[in-house]
Amino acid sequence: MTYKKVFIKTFGCQMNEYDSERIWQVLQLHGYQRVSSPREAGVIVINTCAVREKAESKIYSEIGRIRKLKETRPDLRICIVGCLAQLLGTRLIQRYPHIDFVLGTKQLFALPELLEQHSQQSPYALLDMTTVPISYPALPCPSDGHVSAFVTIMQGCNNYCSYCIVPYVRGHEWSRPPHEIIQEVEGLIKQGVREVTLLGQNVNAYGKTLRPPLRFSELLAQLDVLPGVERIRFTTSHPRDLTDDLISCFTTLQTVCEHIHLPLQSGSNTVLARMNRGYTREAYEEKVYLLRQAVPHISITSDIIVGFPGEQEQDFEETRACIEKLQFDDLFIFHYSQRTGTVAATYSDTIPYHEKIRRLKILNELQQSISLSKNRELIGKTLPVLFESQAKKGEDMIAGRTRTGKVVNCKGTGDIIGTTRNVLIEQATVHSLTGLIL
Ligand code: SAH
Ligand code: SF4
Ligand code: F3S
Repeated sequence: MTYKKVFIKTFGCQMNEYDSERIWQVLQLHGYQRVSSPREAGVIVINTCAVREKAESKIYSEIGRIRKLKETRPDLRICIVGCLAQLLGTRLIQRYPHIDFVLGTKQLFALPELLEQHSQQSPYALLDMTTVPISYPALPCPSDGHVSAFVTIMQGCNNYCSYCIVPYVRGHEWSRPPHEIIQEVEGLIKQGVREVTLLGQNVNAYGKTLRPPLRFSELLAQLDVLPGVERIRFTTSHPRDLTDDLISCFTTLQTVCEHIHLPLQSGSNTVLARMNRGYTREAYEEKVYLLRQAVPHISITSDIIVGFPGEQEQDFEETRACIEKLQFDDLFIFHYSQRTGTVAATYSDTIPYHEKIRRLKILNELQQSISLSKNRELIGKTLPVLFESQAKKGEDMIAGRTRTGKVVNCKGTGDIIGTTRNVLIEQATVHSLTGLIL
């Protein structure tokens, strides 16, 4: 019986990965099995992303591929869920009539009931965003034997950066109550998880919607004392909400790892203002200064958008200079992608595609040399590494991370996975380190 076999494919950010595991957990409670190929499945779930055009077009190709399966097996049920589903709603069904269900970001967990109750005669969409928040099923996400796990602690975003679709598809910012988060982390620890990454679109604004409010640093302090928690990470932080009490968590709380992802987006104040980011380049640089003053070896990573409408050569040059000055450990550089419905989509002074790509390449090359030299500085140092999995390359190699989030590959056996070992760093590339377990 294939109809209770589900194949889940996830696009987008870590919050989508978390949601997919939740969807799987709920389906499992309804007797579904998970399969690793769409061919074996009776139900296909695609959890979608709308953040950039590239994500969108990958999803369309995937939906197109599945059409062929549906032609040969009309009983196959195709469910498109998440951010792009929320954005396009019934337009998706008009465009792809082989879709059975479209579920928005606040309706994900209605899937088992829908599959049971709804006939296949006509496609069905559930897109209501007013039910705030979605409550997560009260069970810790299964860790599937992983050493490291995600825990979403917030939903939505109120920032409305002018280029960004997320607030429109994920709704208003809402924080999960701390007792739910603690319970979930405790459950994960019991399953063998050693490291948790707390997720939110603007994670360091955590707690503002709670009554009484709680500071993010206070949540971290509550998690820090839980027995068995070895490492805590969090992402993504907004520079404006990076407060002094959060910076001191890096020094006072043992489990909080010395890494922060702090998107800069642009080094030009004109562009930052038009992006509605709520800080200046100088204010951002001050935060980096304070972070490094507190923890000199802290790793700082960031996001940059090139080719935002109206980005002049001078603006781009300011971004380039800022990257050179701040020496990030790693950068994710995107070329601006127009998202219908956002404020920036109404700006007419767009930058030609080839120019965006030229700027992207310049920054990528610059960052590669910075990343490499930062990684090379670690050669000869001994660092604690939490081993997480087999390495991608080499059968006798295992992979882990330093507290600063750098990937380290070492010769080692599977029994070391899940433990922290001191590693002598011997080699460095742009994206990883190689070392010797001591
Ligand atoms: N909440 C996080 C992540 C948002 S999406 C944050 O505030 O950083 C991740 C990254 O995608 C953003 O940091 C931004 O650099 C990029 N991004 C978002 N919208 C984009 C767009 N329309 N075009 C190009 N990049 C975009
Ligand atoms: Fe988008 Fe800005 Fe919110 Fe991040 S903070 S999700 S970039 S609106
Ligand atoms: Fe994409 Fe939605 Fe995440 S738009 S980046 S999957 S919040």
